[in-house]
Amino acid sequence: MTKQPEWLNTAVFYEIYPQSFMDSNGDGIGDFNGIISKLDYIKELGCTAIWMNPCFDSPFGDAGYDVSDYKKVAPRYGTNADLKKLFKEAHKRNMHVLLDLVPGHTSVEHKWFKESMKAQKNEFTDRYIWTDSIWKEPSGYGSLRGISDRDGSCVVNFFSHQPALNYGFYKPSESWQQSFDDPGPQATLEAMKDVMRFWLNLGADGFRVDMAGSLVKNDEDGKGTIRLWKNVRAFLDKEFPSAAMVSEWGEPDKSLQGGFHMDFLLHFGPSHYNDLFRCREPYFSSRGKGDVKEFVKKYLENYEKSERKGLICIPSGNHDMDRLARSLNPQEMKIAFAFLLTMPGAPFIYYGDEIGMRYVEGLVSKEGGYGRTGARSPMQWDSSKNAGFSSAEKKKLYIPQDPAPDRPTVKQQMADKSSLWHEVNALISLRMQTPALQNLGEIDFIETGYPLVYKRTAVDGKACMVIINPSQKKCEVKMKEGQVLHITGKGAEYKNGCYKVEGGTAVIINLA
Ligand code: NOJ
Repeated sequence: MTKQPEWLNTAVFYEIYPQSFMDSNGDGIGDFNGIISKLDYIKELGCTAIWMNPCFDSPFGDAGYDVSDYKKVAPRYGTNADLKKLFKEAHKRNMHVLLDLVPGHTSVEHKWFKESMKAQKNEFTDRYIWTDSIWKEPSGYGSLRGISDRDGSCVVNFFSHQPALNYGFYKPSESWQQSFDDPGPQATLEAMKDVMRFWLNLGADGFRVDMAGSLVKNDEDGKGTIRLWKNVRAFLDKEFPSAAMVSEWGEPDKSLQGGFHMDFLLHFGPSHYNDLFRCREPYFSSRGKGDVKEFVKKYLENYEKSERKGLICIPSGNHDMDRLARSLNPQEMKIAFAFLLTMPGAPFIYYGDEIGMRYVEGLVSKEGGYGRTGARSPMQWDSSKNAGFSSAEKKKLYIPQDPAPDRPTVKQQMADKSSLWHEVNALISLRMQTPALQNLGEIDFIETGYPLVYKRTAVDGKACMVIINPSQKKCEVKMKEGQVLHITGKGAEYKNGCYKVEGGTAVIINLA
C-alpha cells in the first residue's frame, strides 16, 4: 500500500464547485478570491482539506471537465497567481487543496487536438485515439467524425465533444490501436506528468483524478491502467512524495495497486451507495424501509481488498448526483452525517450539504450539467441579495438559486444550535479528537439492519461503537456499557445490559 502523506490520515474534505461557491467580483460566477474569503468558514466547519472541481481554461461544455489548456486557469475564476494565492492562504490555515486532474480527455479546443486533427503528421498525431479511416468507427466506443482533414474517427470518452487521449490499448487488436509502450501513449503520459508537475510546483497538494480507471482502452480487468498509474506513482515518489492522490475509480483493489492513496465509493457501479441516500426507500429515511445489507457486503469486499485500510471515501454527494436533501429531511440528514463522519476513509462534504441545500428542480441544463444542474446551484450564505453569493443581478447568476423563501443559509444555521450545520460541526470535531473514528481506524460491522452497528478501532487498540438508527422505531443493542461521546437525534439510555436507542438517533460510544 502506498504510504500516505500524514495529513491525509485525518483529512476531512470539502468539495468546492468553483462556479457556485462565492463570487468576489460581482459577475455572477464564483472565483478564487471568493473561495479565499471563505477559507475561514470551511475551517470553522471543521474541514481540513478542499477538493476543487476543474478550474482550467475550457469552453465549458462539461463544466470544465473539457480542458482546453491544462496549465492556465479559466479567466472567470482569476489568474494562475490567484490560484497560487489560494494554495498559500489554505496552507497558512493548515489546510490542503486537491485540484481535479482530467487525464482522460480534453476539449476539442485544446491545441493538442487541433494539431491532431491535421492531415499532416505532427507531434500530436498520436496524442488522441484515432481510427485510420473515417469509415471505420471504433467498436465499443463513441467517436467524433467528419470534423477534421485527417482521415479517421476519434474515440471520445464521455460527451461526444471530449476526445480521448491516447494511452494505448491493453491488447491492441486493430491496425490503428497502439499499445501503452508505443511512443504516442508514452508521450501522452509524459505530458500529463508535466501538467501534474506544473501545479504541484505551484503549491497544489495533490489531485482528485477524473475517470482514473478508464485510461487504457479494452482493459477489462484494469491491468493496463494499473500499470500506467504505477508509472505515475514512481514519478511522484521521486519528485513529489507528499502529493495526495484520490481516484474517481470506484474499485479500490485496482486504484490502490496503481498507487492511489484513496478511492471513492460512488453512485455508479455495484457499490449500493444509492441504497443509503438516493433511491425510493433510502436506508436513512425515517420510514425505516431501506436496506443497508448489500451496501455493507460490497463495502466489506472492497475493504478486504484494500487490506482493511480506511481508503474508501464515501462522499455526502458531489456535482454529479442529486442533493442529499432531495430524498432526506434535515433530521434524517443528521443521522446520515453521523454515519458519513464515523466511517473509515476521508469524508467528503459537498459544498452546501452541511446546511442541507436542496436540489433546485426544473432548471435548464447549464454547461453540460443536465440533471446534475440542480445540485450545482450557488451557495446560500445568508438572507441578503442572492443569498450572499454574488452582488450581480439575479438573472446573471451562473445557475438560479433555490427560490424557496425558507431556503437554508449558513448564517441562519450557524445561529441555531440545533441546526444541521452544528451537528456536522460537532461530528467533525469529535472525529478529530477520536483516533478510532478517523480515516485509518478499522471497522467491524456488528449489525446490518435497523440499527446499523459498527465498531471502529484505532491503531493503539482504543475503540468506539457506533449505533445508527435512522428509523422511527426504538431499538436495543446488547453490549457492555461505555462512555457516550455523542448523540445525534433524540436520545439513548443504558439499561439492563442494553443501549436503548430512540428512533431517529445515532450514538457514538467510547469503549474503555
Ligand atoms: C466525472 C466527473 O465527475 C463528471 O462531472 C464529468 O462530466 C465526467 N467525469 C467527464 O469528465
